[in-house]
Amino acid sequence: MKRQAIVAANWKMNGSLPLIKEMISGLNSVKLAENVNVVVCPSTPFLSAFALNAKNENLQANIHLGAQNVSEHKSGAYTGEVSTDMLNEVFVNYVIVGHSERRSIYKETSTQVAHKVKAVLNAGLTPILCIGESENERTSEQTDTVLASQLQPVIDVIGIEKFIDVVIAYEPVWAIGTGKTASPEMAQATHLFIRQFLANANELIANKVPLLYGGSVNAANCEELFAQTDIDGGLIGGASLKVDEFKIICSSAKGS
Ligand code: 13P
Repeated sequence: MKRQAIVAANWKMNGSLPLIKEMISGLNSVKLAENVNVVVCPSTPFLSAFALNAKNENLQANIHLGAQNVSEHKSGAYTGEVSTDMLNEVFVNYVIVGHSERRSIYKETSTQVAHKVKAVLNAGLTPILCIGESENERTSEQTDTVLASQLQPVIDVIGIEKFIDVVIAYEPVWAIGTGKTASPEMAQATHLFIRQFLANANELIANKVPLLYGGSVNAANCEELFAQTDIDGGLIGGASLKVDEFKIICSSAKGS
């Protein structure tokens, strides 16, 4: 089954204008395998600068701009929020939705996340839907239940057919920013669970959804993770702030 691979950089609340420029010129020389797309998700104030610099530098076409969050509302009195239309205006193509930091710190519910996914799709953008279990949930063998409870509301709100345009990032919360990566075998087993969960609703669609792994991915462990059958790339935090390391991670992704 042919699936595109994606390596996405989630800069979180880090980065700067100089890093935008450095990343664009660094990525312009990276050799990407066929069927691999790269997405850089800087903070909102840097989105326009990325788009402008990417245009000026003639950035290779398979490198895209992503946002880290979006409102589920179309427009109106939502101080501090950003709409899908605004993201479209600054040439954003992807939007991270439901990152565990949004769920835990900002109390986003799976239903709200589902409505964000819907808004993103309605605007013609690609959502990168994040799901993942906490350390407690993993040790008490709740992982599958938690992942199902995060996926089902999205299936209910958008319908399984729309998953053809959705990217899923599995990020075990205990592996984020901790240096504790899931082993390739554990990550593969969980990705397989996710794919099978989707396949229960529609097998054809399930086989086409890119499933990214996130959580302490770096230049040393990316190759082994990306070699797993159901791992179609990664969502990278800390290591995506270092241009040379991020380039290594991007070039180790292989489209299947
Ligand atoms: P780290 O790669 O820093 O663990 O972060 C992962 C992440 O949260 C990406 O969204």
